[in-house]
Amino acid sequence: MTSSSEHATSPEKNAPAASVNHVELTVNGVSYPLHLGTDRNLSSVLRGEVGLTGTKEGCDDCECGACMVLLDGQPVNSCSYLAVQAAGRAITTVEGLAGDDLHPLQRNILAAGGVQCGFCTPGMLMSAEALLERTPLPSDEEIRIGLSGNLCRCTGYARIIEAVRATSVELDGVRRSSVTE
Ligand code: FES
Ligand code: FES
Repeated sequence: MTSSSEHATSPEKNAPAASVNHVELTVNGVSYPLHLGTDRNLSSVLRGEVGLTGTKEGCDDCECGACMVLLDGQPVNSCSYLAVQAAGRAITTVEGLAGDDLHPLQRNILAAGGVQCGFCTPGMLMSAEALLERTPLPSDEEIRIGLSGNLCRCTGYARIIEAVRATSVELDGVRRSSVTE
């Protein structure tokens, strides 16, 4: 199952050797000039050449959501997305969520006890971030649908949903107070 709003082109596992291209990827606002085989998936490049290991690799088959990143704000399973296709687009990984302090989603998922082994957490956070961008005050049902492409083996989901709900209310309060100031 996947909530990714884009259909990726899966790298062919037994394809002949791919050519190498010069590619510039923009990750969390930073440009990375790279030489990449055209068959490389985005998650391996983010974790390898780019050096950002927050994005996890689980199923490698568009099933678990551990590798979720945002491409121009849309959630994408990076295990099944070719890195060369991401050139010229804004890639956001979990490392790009926090500023000087934790992002409210990160703070609230910790406070709610929604992190146990933590393997699903980066992908979960990216899907939640995309959800709150398109639906600032989602219902619990909308939160479940927004996170439906992310599997968690540990928590039973309730605490993660609670954290997303708390974040949406918190950010709504911030928006309202900035309007009335
Ligand atoms: S590793 Fe990409 S969806 Fe599981
Ligand atoms: S916290 Fe372990 S998989 Fe979600």
